[in-house]
Amino acid sequence: MRAWPKGRLAYGGDYNPEQWPRSVWREDVDLMQRAGVSFVTLGVFSWSWLEPHKGEYDFGWLDEVMDLMAQADIAVDLATATASPPPWLTTAYPEMLPRTADGVVMWPGSRQSWCPSSPIFAEAARALVTQIAQRYHEHPALAMWHISNEYACHNLPCYCDTCAAAFRAWLRRRYGSVDALNDAWGTAFWSQRYTDLEQVLPPRRTPTFHNPTHVLDYHRFGSDTLLDHFLGEKAILADLSPGVPVTTNFMTMTQFRLLDYQSWAPHQDVVSTDHYRVATLPDPVAELSFQGAVTRGLANGAPWMLMEHSTSAVNWQPVNPAKAPGETLRDSLLHVANGADTIGFFQWRASRAGAEKWHSALVPHAGPESARFAEVCRLGAAAAALGELAGSRVEAQVAILLDTQALWAASGPAMPSTAVDYPEMAQRVHRALRDKGITADVVHPSADLSAYRLIVVPTLYLVTDDHAAAIAAAAAGGAQVLVTYFSGIVDEHDHVRLGGYPGAFRDLLGIVVEEFDPLLPGAGVDLSRGHGTIWSEWCRAVDAEVVATYTSGPCAGSAAMTRRTVGEGGAWYLGTMPDEATFDGLLNALVAAAGIAAALPGLPSGVEAIRRRAADGRSWVALVNHTDAPATMAVSGVDLLSGHATDGSLTLPRGGVAVVREG
Ligand code: GAL
Repeated sequence: MRAWPKGRLAYGGDYNPEQWPRSVWREDVDLMQRAGVSFVTLGVFSWSWLEPHKGEYDFGWLDEVMDLMAQADIAVDLATATASPPPWLTTAYPEMLPRTADGVVMWPGSRQSWCPSSPIFAEAARALVTQIAQRYHEHPALAMWHISNEYACHNLPCYCDTCAAAFRAWLRRRYGSVDALNDAWGTAFWSQRYTDLEQVLPPRRTPTFHNPTHVLDYHRFGSDTLLDHFLGEKAILADLSPGVPVTTNFMTMTQFRLLDYQSWAPHQDVVSTDHYRVATLPDPVAELSFQGAVTRGLANGAPWMLMEHSTSAVNWQPVNPAKAPGETLRDSLLHVANGADTIGFFQWRASRAGAEKWHSALVPHAGPESARFAEVCRLGAAAAALGELAGSRVEAQVAILLDTQALWAASGPAMPSTAVDYPEMAQRVHRALRDKGITADVVHPSADLSAYRLIVVPTLYLVTDDHAAAIAAAAAGGAQVLVTYFSGIVDEHDHVRLGGYPGAFRDLLGIVVEEFDPLLPGAGVDLSRGHGTIWSEWCRAVDAEVVATYTSGPCAGSAAMTRRTVGEGGAWYLGTMPDEATFDGLLNALVAAAGIAAALPGLPSGVEAIRRRAADGRSWVALVNHTDAPATMAVSGVDLLSGHATDGSLTLPRGGVAVVREG
């Protein structure tokens, strides 16, 4: 076994040598060394090459590549190769193919054509993992195991009969009896009462709205089922390859919402993720930083791995813009600023054929004598220069709470407004704080909140009693807590908390909301300060100070923002989506009440500044100028990227980045 690269941030990506003749492999190694690549992920989609027929293995080519990597001192994150089944398997067992809600089979011919509940797939996958683990455990290139790939990316939810049976077994474990299930799902409604658990189906296509708790439980079941797959492979590796760290690459991206990573993260030896910028998002770079904070939260603050991102264009959006010069470095650095100690890409060499031939890579179609490869080499040098950051942790005094189960529930059928997008408020808060130079963690409501001075509870529609109590305790303990509209509305079964909204936070906030009045697209309401969109409601302050009221629309006179002193801390409420200036004013008040300062004093607005600190006290501040003009900031130390001392002041061009070792 080999240690993960030390003394530099690990740099590399997915390597798919099976797509190329052997003659290219030698050139690959030379170019990897030129670019400063220190790790590769091998074999992610190699099943049909490693096991061309059932039980017949061909490891010769992988042996050769592993040896080449060992000789070149490149660490291998070796895949268990179970991401996509080979054609011989799906041909022999078509019952393992996933099905859509309409019962349509998702045939082989792309990737991940396997039903998450299929015992046939699980058995075949585990046989392969056993072989790979036995063969490579002792190999000097092996540094990490990479189980499967982006679980759930294409095959969840599956609605086939195998899943139906597995779902019933999962429900039996969760509820014990059909009566308990009927209670939890509220099946008194629409004649849905079950008299035997065997009557339960997946939420397949129905004439109209599904039972929301049924849908919510199907999400939970899907996530748990794939986690069992992961744990099954992990158990084999623990047995046959003890001591080698294990991970699977998450997808912390706004549009991916299928797995509850909170329950997966504790099973990772190191949390790793993939992140791709989506051009049509309102602010893809702010989203990138937000997702970095999400990944850091999943890693419990520990350094994490950016397993994949792209050097330039992806191939899966309707239009796939290239990255401008400097953007690859900026994106990579933002991940590092947020706690990544590994900079990985999909993929090493751009494919000639196949569905990803138009996806960028470290070696582009144009070859190594290209501007893109020159940039890749510069990034490799930067990864080496930033090596001293490895192991350090990000400093943050703000927590934004995010819970995938709440997201699932909030995206359920027949809600008050489809314009309420659960993560939107969380991202808005994160971005507004970023522009003030304030770093926020994004954590699960079960996280230890004691160290945070400001806690934001954005659109946390579903909340358990325990989580609500922890949030209230944090306020009583001295934190400023901001709760935004449509939070604390239902319990874990998606049952409304009665007696006035937001049931879980009514006492904490000292307010009662009697009715919602969601705003139509394009409509707005006036506030005594500013303007609101998306949401309004009839809200009474019972035991809270009114900070702003609605001054137009049916809710005129109701409270739109409130504040209440709680013990040493405070509980604030925001009942609408305010305009930028009003939002900013509210956040300024919160930041002041919480006594939080920007990472650097006098930082120009729009410059992102995130500090990482080592256990021995050394610190680095990563700076990114998101404004349209050069920005000057006061910072003392040495910029590791340029090698220059800052002499107390640093000017970054538009889009410019620096990582300053302080002191
Ligand atoms: C990821 C995946 C890679 C590749 C990449 C393209 O979702 O893990 O295999 O498909 O996207 O962006």
